[in-house]
Amino acid sequence: MESYEKLVTELKTLAKYGSALSLLSWDEEVNLPARAHSYRGEVNALLSSDFHNRLTKQETYDLVAKLSEPGIFSGLSDDQKTVVRETKRDLDMARKLPTEFVEKMSLLTTKAFGVWVEARKKQDFALFAPILEEMLAMKKREAELLGYKTSPYDALLDEFEPGMTTGSVDAVFKPLGQELSKLIASVKSEPAVIAASNYPKAAQEVLSDRIARQLGYDMDAGRIDVSPHPFTISFHTTDVRVTTRYDETDFWVSLGSTIHEVGHGLYEQGLPEEHFGTPLGEAVSLGIHESQSRSWENFVGRSRAFANYLHPVLTELFPGISYSPEQLYRWLNRVRPNLIRVESDEVTYNMHIILRYELEKALIEGDLNVADLPAAWNEKVKKYLGLDVPNDALGVLQDVHWSHGSIGYFPTYTLGNLYAAQFFNAAKKALPDMEKDFAAGNFSGFLGWLRENIHSQGRRYTSAELVKKVTGEELNAKYLLDHLREKVALAN
Ligand code: CO
Repeated sequence: MESYEKLVTELKTLAKYGSALSLLSWDEEVNLPARAHSYRGEVNALLSSDFHNRLTKQETYDLVAKLSEPGIFSGLSDDQKTVVRETKRDLDMARKLPTEFVEKMSLLTTKAFGVWVEARKKQDFALFAPILEEMLAMKKREAELLGYKTSPYDALLDEFEPGMTTGSVDAVFKPLGQELSKLIASVKSEPAVIAASNYPKAAQEVLSDRIARQLGYDMDAGRIDVSPHPFTISFHTTDVRVTTRYDETDFWVSLGSTIHEVGHGLYEQGLPEEHFGTPLGEAVSLGIHESQSRSWENFVGRSRAFANYLHPVLTELFPGISYSPEQLYRWLNRVRPNLIRVESDEVTYNMHIILRYELEKALIEGDLNVADLPAAWNEKVKKYLGLDVPNDALGVLQDVHWSHGSIGYFPTYTLGNLYAAQFFNAAKKALPDMEKDFAAGNFSGFLGWLRENIHSQGRRYTSAELVKKVTGEELNAKYLLDHLREKVALAN
């Protein structure tokens, strides 16, 4: 059909502009000289508003609107229906945000990031408070522009996790939080330790490269670079970049990050290449994306089977190590509350997310003032993790997200853990020998299962539909809680 072909051609053109913009942002995180941030911010603001103009132009919207008319839509194939439905959703959302707003937001995030870096360095929330006020005002305006039924927070959440609302998040986060509080209170013993060792960076690079390939990451369609905050970015299914960071006292800092980001990367490399640029070649949501990284990091990488596979690799690369595979396994799964989210274990991590979710929701709904945020933060850390926050850098200023304007993003981390637990349970049923395979360094069965059930689907289903289809159940906290109970039992 002519108008459908025209739409796909335009989407594929937009994707090429998108790839170039993404390459700039990869460069910003990996290579940018310190003094270049401000000018790069201007370049980004210009290009992202141009991109927004092209994305929202009337001719494209008219095409989508025409294809969405019931008489025409019903004659489309299933694939075409997905492309039209999801493109309509994207364009409806994008067209609600005026170009002036997008440009202002882009400039504000560049500025806010700089202020946040400074405030964190000086451990002083008061420095960050005024720009956070500005950011919240913009995000509230964004919510009004996008529209919502019950809470303005729903509009923001929907940008990252389509279809999810505060109601549906509360329905899983509340029981999860209650059970986790009990579990955390039951942690008795000191966390497992392994003998201190030196892990030279060069050998860790070999380790990251080798494990990434072993998991199935195509190094001819990707790279591993270094950045302070590891991330994954895709320019195309044949060019998916991940980053990691190195600490010579702890190999898991790099390997854990590599496995996590490779989990994201495998999803991007596994999306159907022929559909690149259209919703059939895109990830469902951030939560489903995170389910991929967490599956590999926590459900594969922290399993006993993986520790058995990894141990001989470690002894080959780091001849000085003296611990056993079992000690390695216990160390990878130690449980102890930590002030810092990104350094937290699997069990306490989700309390970090629940507290951020509660606070940002209260800020957006007008139930909490910016001035009261640090005290509210510290109170929740005490209540949920039993820890005292000594300064703002170890508390409310630790994460970059709010300076980026990413409000409604944090819940996707715990949603990712919940989806991962549910998916992994379903994969184990389908592949009874999966863990035996892991111990032998064979991950292709699990990857194949993910490819077939999740990666190849693009945005055919919403996250809620996908979970139901793949696991036979609605999203629920049971499987994650079972998994975390095992971890606490092991730690005790
Ligand atoms: Co991630």
